[in-house]
Amino acid sequence: MENLESDAFVFFGATGDLAYEQIFPALQAMITHGQFDMPIIGVAKSAWSLEQLRSRAHESLEKHGCLDSQAFAVLSEKLQYVKGDYGSPETFHQLRKALGAACRPLYYLAIPPDLFATVAEGLAHADCDNGARLVIEKPFGRDLASAQALNRTLRKSFPESAIFRIDHYLGKEPVQNLLYFRFANSFLEPIWNSNYIQSVQVTMAENFGMRGRGVLYEELGAIRDVVQNHMLEVVALLTMEAPISREPDALRDEKQRAFRAMRPLSPADIVRGQFQGYRSEKGVARDSKVETFAAVKLYVDTWRWAGVPFYIRAGKQMPVTATEVLVELKRPPQAVFDAINQRQANYFRFRLSPDVSISLGARAKLPGEAMAGDQVELVVRQAKAEDRPPYERLLGDALRGDPMLFVREDGVEAAWSVVDPVLENATPVHEYDPHTWGPIEADRIIAGDGGWHNPKPIADKAKEATK
Ligand code: BG6
Repeated sequence: MENLESDAFVFFGATGDLAYEQIFPALQAMITHGQFDMPIIGVAKSAWSLEQLRSRAHESLEKHGCLDSQAFAVLSEKLQYVKGDYGSPETFHQLRKALGAACRPLYYLAIPPDLFATVAEGLAHADCDNGARLVIEKPFGRDLASAQALNRTLRKSFPESAIFRIDHYLGKEPVQNLLYFRFANSFLEPIWNSNYIQSVQVTMAENFGMRGRGVLYEELGAIRDVVQNHMLEVVALLTMEAPISREPDALRDEKQRAFRAMRPLSPADIVRGQFQGYRSEKGVARDSKVETFAAVKLYVDTWRWAGVPFYIRAGKQMPVTATEVLVELKRPPQAVFDAINQRQANYFRFRLSPDVSISLGARAKLPGEAMAGDQVELVVRQAKAEDRPPYERLLGDALRGDPMLFVREDGVEAAWSVVDPVLENATPVHEYDPHTWGPIEADRIIAGDGGWHNPKPIADKAKEATK
C-alpha cells in the first residue's frame, strides 16, 4: 500500500479558510504540473451547491493571483460536494457513494482538531478507511496528554503509516536546505558542535497581528502555534545527526533522537509577551493571558550540543516579518590583531523567509596601515522565492505515500514534552508595544550571550547583499 498512489482527494472543511487559503491553490498547481488526475470531493456542513463551491475555488485562486483558466476548468470538472454533519453516518454513506470506484482515497481534515476523532471514526464505520490515507494539520493536541489521546484515537482507525501530519514548515525549500547544507558539505561538520558554536538563535518575527484569527489564537498562543512545531522542527534539523539512509524513517529517527534530547523547558527558560491591543482584537478575551510572543532558552542534551544555548523567539506585531537562524561561532582564542568581541565573531545566517539566503559572517582587513578589520558577509546562496509552495509539495508527497516531510507520532509527543511544563500560564505575560521586539524582560533570557540579533527587513538585506 505504501507506494501506491492515492486515487481520490477528499477534503473535509471544504468551505473553510484552510481550503480557501491553501488547498485550492495547491490542487490547481498539481493539475498544472500534470501530477494530478483523480476525483476531488469537498465535504462540509454548509448547505452549499456544487456551483457555490466552484465559485469559492475560483475566488480563492483569483485572490492568490494564480488563476489559470485551463487548470481551473479541470479542477471544476473533477470537483464534487458532499454536504453533511460530521457526526452523522449519512454523511459518510454519501461520501462512500461519491468515491465510486476509488479504493485508495486521501482524506485531508481541514477542520478544527476537536472534530478529527469524529471524522476518523465516521470514516471507519462507513468502511471508507480501507487503503486510505489521512492528512491532518497542526495543532496535534493542546499538550502532551491530549496529543497522546489524539494519537490513540486516530490509530484506532488508521495505521501510523497512513497518517500524514502536516507542519508546513517542513515543506519549505529553505527549511529543507538546512538539512541539505549541513550534510552535503564537509566543511561544516568539524565545527558543528559545542567546541566551535557559542549559541544559536532562531527568530520568527511577524509584523502583523491576528488578521481575524483571534478566536483560534486564544486557544493557542505563540508556544502552541509555532514554538512546539515550526521552531522545534527547525532546531531538530539543526541538531540531528546524519540519517543512515535516504529512507523516510531514517531521517525521522534521527530527528526523533534530537527531540528527545531537548531538555524540557522550565519557567526560568521562557518569557511570554502580549502586544498592547491584543485584548481588543475580535474574539479575544478582555483579560486574556495568551502570549503573542515567546522567548525561550533551550538546551539539547547530547555530546555534540552540551552547553550550547538555543534561543528561540517568535512573535506577532514585531518590527519586521522575517524568519532567520543565526549560528554564532566562538571568538578566536586570542586577539592577535584587533580585539574581537563575541558580537563580531563568525556566524552562519540562514534566512528562511521572506527572502532566502545562507551567509557566513566573517572579518576582513580594512585597507590601511593598521591591522584592523571589519565585518563582511559572504552570501553562499540566495534565491528570490520558494520555487514550489509548501502545500503543493506536501500534498503531492502524501498522495504518493511519502512520509519523509511529515511529523511522526513519536515526534509530536516528544515536542510536546519539551513545552508541556511551561503551558497554562506557568509564567506571567508581559505587555509590549506593537512593532517592537517584545517585552524588555526577554533580554533576561539571553543576558549572558550578548543579546538578540534582530533580523533586518528585506530592503536593507538587498542593499547588504550588494555591498
Ligand atoms: C502558522 C501559524 O502555522 O504559520 C501562523 O499558525 C503563522 O500564526 C504561520 O503566521 C507562518 O507561516 P509562514 O509560512 O507564513 O511563515
